[in-house]
Amino acid sequence: MNLSVNIDHIATIRQARKAVEPEPVLAALLAEQAGAQGIVCHLRGDRRHIQERDLKLLRETIKTKLNLEMAATPEMLNIARKIKPEVVSLVPESPNEVTTQGGLDVVGHNRHLALYISKLKTAGIRVSIFVDPRRQQIEACQQVGVDLVEINTGKYAEARKDRDRLKHLEEVKQAASLARSLGLEVHAGHGLDYHNVRPIVEIAEISELSIGFAIVARAAMVGMVQAVKDMLALLER
Ligand code: PXP
Repeated sequence: MNLSVNIDHIATIRQARKAVEPEPVLAALLAEQAGAQGIVCHLRGDRRHIQERDLKLLRETIKTKLNLEMAATPEMLNIARKIKPEVVSLVPESPNEVTTQGGLDVVGHNRHLALYISKLKTAGIRVSIFVDPRRQQIEACQQVGVDLVEINTGKYAEARKDRDRLKHLEEVKQAASLARSLGLEVHAGHGLDYHNVRPIVEIAEISELSIGFAIVARAAMVGMVQAVKDMLALLER
């Protein structure tokens, strides 16, 4: 199981003081040295953490794969075309959210998304959509032409009761199996940590996880290399 490390919250710490450290590019390079297979960052419309400068430097420095999370806006299309990340992950964005709230409503925006995705693909970028584990949404992802989907594990991760957790785990399993049967590469993420990740690793159809907060939180205590190595050990199949 591959791991892409989301380094947004290294930039969150820096932006808390509008300072020059900690450096997200250094965090990304250390994550790669520890064995991560990719780096993810989310350039938000409000630029609350990652800045365009970070994106440019990440593009020039990382050696694995850059996955740019972004909203499907005209501004972001221009930026993606210039930066040319290996993957763009389309996510919903609303100004007051603490973190991404739920997957993108692909069914409700299918025309806009199909056109938007075709422009990204013409630029040679693979496209992913962050999507809730629901049949109609997964089917719509295939129809709008994405290469892969990232299944939202947020509900699974947030569940407090065993019964709820199992229900949401089953939804992720079903969605992964459906997406794979439709020919899509399947990733997953959101809210995954050192305690809840194993049942997701067991889902054979999922080939990659995108994990941010838990790794950065552990990195604050033990360093980035150790935090990434600890997670990679849990991702072994
Ligand atoms: N995937 C997507 C689409 C996200 O928006 C985020 C959060 O930025 C993540 C994965 C990572 O979530 P977490 O920080 O909870 O690991």
